[in-house]
Amino acid sequence: MATLTTLLYSMVFYATLLIIPADCSLGYDLGKPKNHVPFFIFGDSFVDAGNNNYIGTGAIQANFWPYGQTLFHYPNGRFSDGRLSPDVIAEFANVPYIPPFLHPGVHQFSEGANFASSGAGVLVETFKGLVINLKTQLSYFKKVATGLRQELGDGEAKKLFSRAVYLISVGSNDYMYPFLSNSTIPESSQTQYVGRVIGNLTSVIQEIYKIGGRKFGFIRLGPLGCVPALRALKPENKGRCLEEALTLSKLHNKALSNLLRELESQFPELKYSNYDFYSFLRQRMKYPSKYGFKEGESACCGIGPLRGVMSCGGRGRVKNYQLCDKPSEYVFWDAIHLTDKAYQQMAEQMWNGTNPVVEGNYNLKSFFPSVAP
Ligand SMILES: *[C@@H]1O[C@H](CO)[C@@H](O)[C@H](O)[C@H]1NC(C)=O
Ligand SMILES: *[C@@H]1O[C@H](CO)[C@@H](O)[C@H](O)[C@H]1NC(C)=O
Ligand SMILES: *[C@@H]1O[C@H](CO)[C@@H](O)[C@H](O)[C@H]1NC(C)=O
Repeated sequence: MATLTTLLYSMVFYATLLIIPADCSLGYDLGKPKNHVPFFIFGDSFVDAGNNNYIGTGAIQANFWPYGQTLFHYPNGRFSDGRLSPDVIAEFANVPYIPPFLHPGVHQFSEGANFASSGAGVLVETFKGLVINLKTQLSYFKKVATGLRQELGDGEAKKLFSRAVYLISVGSNDYMYPFLSNSTIPESSQTQYVGRVIGNLTSVIQEIYKIGGRKFGFIRLGPLGCVPALRALKPENKGRCLEEALTLSKLHNKALSNLLRELESQFPELKYSNYDFYSFLRQRMKYPSKYGFKEGESACCGIGPLRGVMSCGGRGRVKNYQLCDKPSEYVFWDAIHLTDKAYQQMAEQMWNGTNPVVEGNYNLKSFFPSVAP
């Protein structure tokens, strides 16, 4: 019975995915309004709609219960009890949920594509072998771009790429991976490490720009050292934030702001919106009730201090986990990721926030001008 229900739910879910016509070509739907805005998504688990379901066992995955329990009612690969912020943004923008690029039923990308992979970082070394790194994600986008150029001609394709929105959430894993794999980034090499991450990210942005991308959305890093997973890492820390990781996230965010200002002056057509996820999370962890939550620090699903041991669903090394009754009372769904409700709030700010909530002269709403006011 449970299996049948799950199956039915998944059929409904995939039916909604396939609103995008699966005509088996890298195609452009000629029936679409001429000004529609495609949505391309890159990065990590904050935005991965399920690509890791298709890269083999051992990958960093969330395709098991209780992931997805609240909204989709079945586990679909999102590290959330429900939606992620790009899903909510798709709702605001009045476009379908952007499906994972690797989903076997999806061959049509004029609405966009989601290339993100849980665990992915900018650096190739980050969770190597378990994720699709950012460079590989870029190579997938190039494939899509080539297909669209063949169908539309260079001129129309270029217009499509420049209307599109490119959302990038990346970096957290580059800084968490060393700590999660029983290593560290010594203080003496922090600046250099951040430089490598930013350097590699720069070339990805430039490549997308070269193809024709103009409208970029970024999600800054949260206070990494204070997510339950890193607070629970060393018993001797007694639940305090991991200072090294906190410092790295601040250094990265500063370097990202500088980079974007620099790119903007270098490429006059480049527009960006850099979302302040750091303050978002800090505020909600400190004052949960102000934002409609009961618990800001402990995760809903997991075990150990602050449920910070990543065991949600019991498929990892640790099998035991606790699950809260009402995820909507929590900011954190598991030891690293947020609940549907927190992602909804985040998406609202990304959509219509103004400086300093979003840095740059844009928010995502201004990138989707075809949406009726
Ligand atoms: C972590 O590293 C320390 C020292 O480098 C080592 O003693 C310890 O056994 C390692 N723990 C695990 C779980 O690998
Ligand atoms: C990109 O990252 C690699 C390590 O993965 C590093 O060796 C290289 O210097 C970085 N590139 C830039 C431009 O920083
Ligand atoms: C931003 O969008 C949210 C969700 O649609 C809405 O509730 C809120 O009123 C909007 N805020 C502004 C300032 O437009």
